[in-house]
Amino acid sequence: MIEVENLRKSYGPIEALRGISFKVKQSEVVGFLGPNGAGKTTTMRILTGYIHQTSGTASIAGHCVMSDTLAAQKRVGYLPESAPLYDDMYVCEYLDFVCDLRGLQGSHRKQRIEKVLESCDITSVARRRIGHLSKGFRQRVGLAQAFVHDPDIIILDEPTSGLDPNQIEDICAMIRNLGEQKTVIFSSHILAEVEATCSRVLILHKGELVADQKLGKGTGRRVVAGLQGKKSSVLKALSAMNGAAKVEALGKQRYAVAGKDPDKLPARIYQIAKDKEWALTELHIEQPSLADTFRQLTRNATASKAAQ
Ligand SMILES: Nc1ncnc2c1ncn2[C@@H]1O[C@H](COP(=O)(O)OP(=O)(O)OP(=O)(O)O)[C@@H](O)[C@H]1O
Ligand SMILES: [Mg+2]
Repeated sequence: MIEVENLRKSYGPIEALRGISFKVKQSEVVGFLGPNGAGKTTTMRILTGYIHQTSGTASIAGHCVMSDTLAAQKRVGYLPESAPLYDDMYVCEYLDFVCDLRGLQGSHRKQRIEKVLESCDITSVARRRIGHLSKGFRQRVGLAQAFVHDPDIIILDEPTSGLDPNQIEDICAMIRNLGEQKTVIFSSHILAEVEATCSRVLILHKGELVADQKLGKGTGRRVVAGLQGKKSSVLKALSAMNGAAKVEALGKQRYAVAGKDPDKLPARIYQIAKDKEWALTELHIEQPSLADTFRQLTRNATASKAAQ
């Protein structure tokens, strides 16, 4: 559905994207993460044909966004960072206007407006002025305009920014529903909401893609063990253990062991501790949170920002 290959974008001397590549399949809900200035909005603007890349390619449902922009745009719905709404318009009037822009006609148009009013739970405010709506309802109207033309791909730039926890949950539920049939990419700074909503995350950092990983139970699990032995001996024994792919010292005689089948590792670690007569102070399987991964991959950016 989406293919991005070695995408670069410079704004004058600023290199916002430094050659990113990824593919997104149909019906995937992908979270787009990264610190401020990582290049998320830039990527989304390129994918939706609002700006052009400096080099590289991006295509939507087989249409190159640079050379076949209109065909690509027909397959995409986009909610920009701050929803471009007209405060003086009534909600239904605005959706009608968006249908005009999208070329929707007749009974199909009426059906689609009814569908998005219902899906976004905004039927009750259809006859209210957009300028009089709360932020949560404005965001729902923004979401409604993004898929009123029934696109295959929906791109949402921080759709929950500034919303209260209830509204965030409602918008995430809408995104999950959309993701049952559509391909959705959405950016966010709230990691818990991404974990609860997405099947996969892409993490950008200083214009580079630093992680592309599936989410869900079982991904990235590792065994944490506390072993009171000489560090070099423990590292050697754990590394030589059957099934251990990566061994890391966590400090204070704690170690993390990753491998293909983490469920089998604790018994082996227990045996090693017994054979070597090392006290075993801790032994459990750990699922690193998205927050841990994010911090680890983008730590430099955060540190340099903090120093500014
Ligand atoms: N129109 C522009 N002109 C010049 N520089 C720009 C422009 N738009 C973005 N940039 C720069 O490009 C880089 C990437 O910006 P971008 O808005 O894509 O980041 P982002 O990941 O969306 O950040 P945020 O989380 O703050 O929304 C930043 O350094 C930003 O200052
Ligand atoms: Mg942004």
